[in-house]
Amino acid sequence: MAKAKQDLPRVRLEVDDKALELATIPATQGNHGVVVTPLMSQTGLVALDPGFLNTAACTSEITFIDGDQGILRYRGYPIEQLATQSSFLEVALLLMKGELPNAHDLEAFETRIDKHMYLSDDFRQIFSVMPRRAHPMATLGAAINMMAGFYPESLDPLDPAAVNLATVLMLAKMPTVISYIYRRAQGNALLYPRPGQNYVENFARMTFQLPGEKFEVPDVFYRALDTLLILHADHEQNCSTSSVRMIGSAQANLYMSVSGGVSALSGPLHGGANEAVLNMLSYIRDNEISPKDFMTQVKDKRSGVKLMGFGHRVYKSYDPRAAIVKEQADAVLDALGVKDELLDIAHEVEQVALSDDYFIERRLYPNVDFYTGIIYRAMGFPASMFTPLFALGRLPGWIAQWREMIVDPSGKIGRPRQIYVGEPHRDYVPVEKRP
Ligand code: ACO
Repeated sequence: MAKAKQDLPRVRLEVDDKALELATIPATQGNHGVVVTPLMSQTGLVALDPGFLNTAACTSEITFIDGDQGILRYRGYPIEQLATQSSFLEVALLLMKGELPNAHDLEAFETRIDKHMYLSDDFRQIFSVMPRRAHPMATLGAAINMMAGFYPESLDPLDPAAVNLATVLMLAKMPTVISYIYRRAQGNALLYPRPGQNYVENFARMTFQLPGEKFEVPDVFYRALDTLLILHADHEQNCSTSSVRMIGSAQANLYMSVSGGVSALSGPLHGGANEAVLNMLSYIRDNEISPKDFMTQVKDKRSGVKLMGFGHRVYKSYDPRAAIVKEQADAVLDALGVKDELLDIAHEVEQVALSDDYFIERRLYPNVDFYTGIIYRAMGFPASMFTPLFALGRLPGWIAQWREMIVDPSGKIGRPRQIYVGEPHRDYVPVEKRP
């Protein structure tokens, strides 16, 4: 329940002899807000908060995180329940619409998605134009931007029908795009989506099926893939989602906004961390470094080495998504008959880190990226495909947050202030007179 207004703290700010009363905004859960907008007009000061450590950019009804308790909920539903009982497309509807769909609405949505998974021959050209060794995230961002060129009837950000169409087209075509990026890198012909086949099954088949062979994997493969997508589906105002909202605040269309999210996600401090974790574990194995010695490198700030897959801006306890993935990793590898020494190294590294004062004092725990790569690898994905898989999972969250932003009556174009610390006024000096 929202905290009653009278229970909220009164916030007064004194600037020299001037007192300013700031309005507060109640949260239903988590931190209440204080509105700093009048600060500049009333005092001439601007708020400075690099990295947004203490700045809310919006109010939102979509996702709640309690970083101290390790809680993550989409629209109020605990991630643990959704991960085990829901499906990715159902979660997508939940995030966008706010409620779990009834059976009819879910089926209608799945059918609509199914109809649009196909990519035209013209669109497919992008996969042959890009070099085979291009990073998949570069191709993915370009492909999403291309959709804005291919589907002009779905561009108007202020037309709900156009936004619904763009939503369906992006969710439908993204698995096809990602499977084609993989196939192209492998030098294999692109396959067509199979109408009526389940979303993740279609995606896995289009990705892995070889000519003349049937693609057959145990159900645990599909279930694990669906779960991983659900776990990544939203995470409130993280770097990529904030980028999507920021771009959309200029009324850029949904595709252009989401491709900005893909760019942000590619960074190793964000979605790129799952690939970086695998590279780190391989490095530990290949160089026969003990987890303890690796930790010595990590703790030496001059080394520039970080324990990838550890730490989080919001979680100061175990990331609940990491707990689910960790539990799944052993089971999935067993069911797929895969033995991976990187999983053993990951367990050892985690144990060493969790009992080390450096990590304890800083409250650094595994985040979702620490174990996901090991499952993806067991499924047959190379490390470079991990971040595109994250992007596929995060797509409903980006879309839901963009849709919330675009209809927010208090919404304004995102435009931070700055505190200028450069040269004051100086006059131009012609080149021949410069020292
Ligand atoms: N390894 C070693 N030290 C770390 C790590 C890490 N993974 N993460 C944080 N620290 C240290 C910092 O050096 C800093 O130490 P100091 O107080 O001595 O200066 C302290 O812990 C606080 O860390 P910050 O960097 O200030 O925390 P911030 O909230 O800015 O960064 C981030 C969070 C980017 C996730 C960071 O923990 C990190 O780089 N982790 C590794 C990359 C990673 O796994 N990213 C995925 C994040 S989850 C996601 O995007 C899905």
